[in-house]
Amino acid sequence: MQVLWIDGCVRGACSRTRRLAETFLNALAQARADVQIETACLNELGLVPFNEETLRERDGAADFSGREFEAARQFREADLLVFAAPFWEGTFPAALHTYLEHVCVTGLTFRLTEKGYEGLCHAGRAVFLTTRGGIYESGPAVRDNHAAAFLTTVLTMLGVPRLDTVAAEGLDIEGCDVEAALVQAERQARDLAQRIAADR
Ligand SMILES: Cc1cc2nc3c(=O)[nH]c(=O)nc-3n(C[C@H](O)[C@H](O)[C@H](O)COP(=O)(O)O)c2cc1C
Repeated sequence: MQVLWIDGCVRGACSRTRRLAETFLNALAQARADVQIETACLNELGLVPFNEETLRERDGAADFSGREFEAARQFREADLLVFAAPFWEGTFPAALHTYLEHVCVTGLTFRLTEKGYEGLCHAGRAVFLTTRGGIYESGPAVRDNHAAAFLTTVLTMLGVPRLDTVAAEGLDIEGCDVEAALVQAERQARDLAQRIAADR
């Protein structure tokens, strides 16, 4: 099982989201001997949004063998996609938006037919691990949480039919027991890893 971990945890080693992701990935690796994990670390990749010139260059490429398509090729081949990113302004950090721009390539990861989008990616499912400062799973801010919905839109276009989300939230609210919230989310992450490992 080829797993691609898309690490969008901007705060690196200090990131609580990364802790959640590592718990999930360790549990998955323990549950299945054939798991191979590749990492797309967005802090290190340093991808930048397209501009007029770079988009023209990409559109004009003769094939998909160039470096500019490396992220998209890697994304297309994975069996399981694991996104880890904190909640920022309704979705997640710009680095992950930019990464998605780079992996959405017509003819490589999707194509447009008369019937609409046809995804060309291999993964049958994806996982989204996130942490949030406030509360978005209940109460008035539910409508302001666009992260999983946005990812689902993109993944559907790319042919990945399923996204499971595990979140720890309320972490920046005064008085929050951050450790307890993270431990609870880690438990959910381990359970999800077990279910995915069993789903051969
Ligand atoms: C630039 C920035 C934007 C943020 N935007 C939000 C937000 O809109 N809503 C929210 O609840 N928390 C927001 N947060 C808080 C983070 O979601 C929260 O602290 C999260 O746990 C950070 O994850 P990390 O420890 O993996 O970096 C924001 C944090 C930063 C740094």
